[in-house]
Amino acid sequence: MPSPPSHRHAHRSLFKQRSFSPRSSSHAHKFFINFLIILTCVLLTLFHIQTLIKSSTSHPPWPPLIHNLIRDFELPQLTTDAADDVQFLPLKDRRLAKTAMEGNTWFMSSINDTKEKGEAEYLRFPSEETSAGRLLCVAWNGTINYYALAPAAALPRNAKLLAGLTFISDSYYSYDNLFHGLTAMSPFVAWHERMGFAVEPARWVLYQQGAVRSKLASPWVRSLMEATFGRAAINRIEQLDGEGPSCFKEAVVFRHNQGSMGKERKEKVYDLLRCKARAYCNLTIAEAPAKAVIRLTLLLRTGTRSFKDDAAVIKIFQKECGKVDGCKLKVALPNNLTFCDQVKLMSETDVLASPHGAQLTNMFFMDKNSSIMEFFPRGWRELAGVGQYVYRWVADWSRMRHHGAWYDPGHGERECPINATASSCFSFYKNSKLGHDEAFFSNWTARVLGEMRLYKLDLLSMKSTTNEDETQNCKCG
Ligand SMILES: *[C@@H]1O[C@H](CO)[C@@H](O)[C@H](O)[C@H]1NC(C)=O
Ligand SMILES: *[C@@H]1O[C@H](CO)[C@@H](O)[C@H](O)[C@H]1NC(C)=O
Ligand SMILES: *[C@@H]1O[C@H](CO)[C@@H](O)[C@H](O)[C@H]1NC(C)=O
Ligand SMILES: *[C@@H]1O[C@H](CO)[C@@H](O)[C@H](O)[C@H]1NC(C)=O
Ligand SMILES: *[C@@H]1O[C@H](CO)[C@@H](O)[C@H](O)[C@H]1NC(C)=O
Ligand SMILES: *[C@@H]1O[C@H](CO)[C@@H](O)[C@H](O)[C@H]1NC(C)=O
Ligand SMILES: *[C@@H]1O[C@H](CO)[C@@H](O)[C@H](O)[C@H]1NC(C)=O
Repeated sequence: MPSPPSHRHAHRSLFKQRSFSPRSSSHAHKFFINFLIILTCVLLTLFHIQTLIKSSTSHPPWPPLIHNLIRDFELPQLTTDAADDVQFLPLKDRRLAKTAMEGNTWFMSSINDTKEKGEAEYLRFPSEETSAGRLLCVAWNGTINYYALAPAAALPRNAKLLAGLTFISDSYYSYDNLFHGLTAMSPFVAWHERMGFAVEPARWVLYQQGAVRSKLASPWVRSLMEATFGRAAINRIEQLDGEGPSCFKEAVVFRHNQGSMGKERKEKVYDLLRCKARAYCNLTIAEAPAKAVIRLTLLLRTGTRSFKDDAAVIKIFQKECGKVDGCKLKVALPNNLTFCDQVKLMSETDVLASPHGAQLTNMFFMDKNSSIMEFFPRGWRELAGVGQYVYRWVADWSRMRHHGAWYDPGHGERECPINATASSCFSFYKNSKLGHDEAFFSNWTARVLGEMRLYKLDLLSMKSTTNEDETQNCKCG
């Protein structure tokens, strides 16, 4: 019966084939000994190569292959691609997260701002001051965005060279918020104006906290930029998700929003934006009326921060407007207004009354020296911090007159269940609906309309002598 031995033999050979199995300790021993022998041989060979190299040249102490592997390991992908002196650093320096917007900010933190009196801080590439004549390159490794400075003659391997002027922005906040979008874009408007509109940007690269933003999602912000730069110029927002680094022939970077932009520059920027927006929307300047006209607009909201009783509020404004010679009241809701509807409405408004909210960003489309009345729900005065003042700032920048605010005392409202002074209560109150105070609203409206009437009369008398309407006569550069 030959069958069983052959069977056993087959079994043994099968066992032999599995000799590397960790279950067999004696075989594992053998394997390790073999491995050690091979390793020793390799190390000896490497040592031999090293001595050979050392004796012939003064190269690094390790063979080039190993050296490259180590560099690969430490600095994935990017540095091996680069010319020797091009060093890629993370665009966002997380070590500075606590002081993200201070000094050089955490965006391109190794590069110092160029500061000019009255202007927003900027970086210009290439320039002697900012980059010692080198170009700015950016790259993405799939997770993190990097930047580097590279000589034009030694760009990183596989780098794309992007011709023309690139506008690069980093904002801490979302571009889709009207206020933050506006303040992030306005230094580019200022730059464009300062350069005499000579060079159109070939593209934009937008970052928010160091991460690429592929578009301006807000139709309002996009329309305003389209009005200022033209459709072609604003629609080229670079995605930068391709392989390999991108280098910019010329780039201007703003990373502080308006930063240290001075009062005069801001006024010019908002003058230009007003003018460009009106032209873009084909608004024709109406013939100046022979008598003082005061155009009062009540810009209501639906939903959050709307008045609980719109009708009652409208009635108060109607009554006060009725008492002033030449006053005309308009009531509008911003939600279904297009960008141009908003520009048109504002250019036909002298006194804007509206609850705190993004729709107030539109104020700079009014003629200069126009007036704003703002309404806040309960809790804002105590808990909102400086954020509550943003529309006072926009008024100041664009030379409007902010006539203060009404803070709903919220009598009889539900109290914040946590603690009325704790900041966590802010989110409890933030979007509450607004009540109204007839006596206060009447008195306040009467005062603002009265002042506007005097101003308009002044304007009329000045016009009759100069015969030139300076407020409406804008030059769009
Ligand atoms: C940036 O500014 C700091 C302080 O003003 C200075 O010490 C540093 O040398 C500057 N760096 C470069 C690259 O110019
Ligand atoms: C990109 O680099 C970072 C930091 O070195 C690393 O943590 C990450 O894994 C890298 N991503 C890829 C896809 O290589
Ligand atoms: C303004 O007028 C031009 C030329 O008539 C037209 O092409 C454009 O669509 C108009 N723009 C708006 C916003 O109505
Ligand atoms: C906007 O909405 C108001 C009220 O909700 C309505 O009266 C008005 O006709 C709307 N306008 C447009 C252009 O849809
Ligand atoms: C409310 O918060 C303030 C400051 O955070 C604290 O001083 C006060 O004791 C708190 N009051 C209550 C009733 O918790
Ligand atoms: C508004 O109220 C103040 C006092 O609070 C008063 O002096 C003033 O005359 C009032 N104005 C109007 C127009 O009623
Ligand atoms: C705005 O008002 C101030 C004084 O109140 C005046 O000097 C200035 O010329 C006015 N601006 C315009 C554009 O009318």
